[in-house]
Amino acid sequence: MAKERTFVMIKPDAVQRGLVGEIIKRIESAGLKIVAMKFIKPSLEQAKKHYAIHEGKSFYDKLITFITSGPAVPMVVEGENAINRVRQLMGKTNPLDADVGTIRADLAMDIGRNLIHGADSLENAKYEIGIYFTEEELVDWEWILEQWIYE
Ligand code: RTP
Ligand code: MG
Repeated sequence: MAKERTFVMIKPDAVQRGLVGEIIKRIESAGLKIVAMKFIKPSLEQAKKHYAIHEGKSFYDKLITFITSGPAVPMVVEGENAINRVRQLMGKTNPLDADVGTIRADLAMDIGRNLIHGADSLENAKYEIGIYFTEEELVDWEWILEQWIYE
């Protein structure tokens, strides 16, 4: 295992539903360290870059419309195995298939309104961080509690 940085975005449905705090709480409580966060309405350009791998798929147009429909909260979080850790906290893409205890199972009902995005590989994490953040926006800070998160 290694310390990784992953890209997470709390999607517009979560903002509209007042679930931003709940989702951030789950990420923090799991022991992940936040190194960047902002509140923005994703631009069409950002959304297209972000979901470029899905271009041409049946759900692509709806996905782009949804992700640009209102404010979202992009974040960079760090920790051991952070990419998989966040995907574990999120649960499966379709909330109806997700395990109870995950964000999507506990708080969502529909694959097109599944509240949170998390990068699925180191390569994609780097690419996605670059869409929403500059290098200077990634905050280098010492987390005192870390000694109580890791042995
Ligand atoms: P995300 O990228 O948003 O973190 O979600 P994911 O990895 O779990 O799922 P992915 O396959 O990357 O799909 C991206 C988003 O597209 C929507 N989607 N709709 N069959 C469908 O209608 C369908 N498949 C995917 C979901 O909102 C998914 O989060
Ligand atoms: Mg994905």
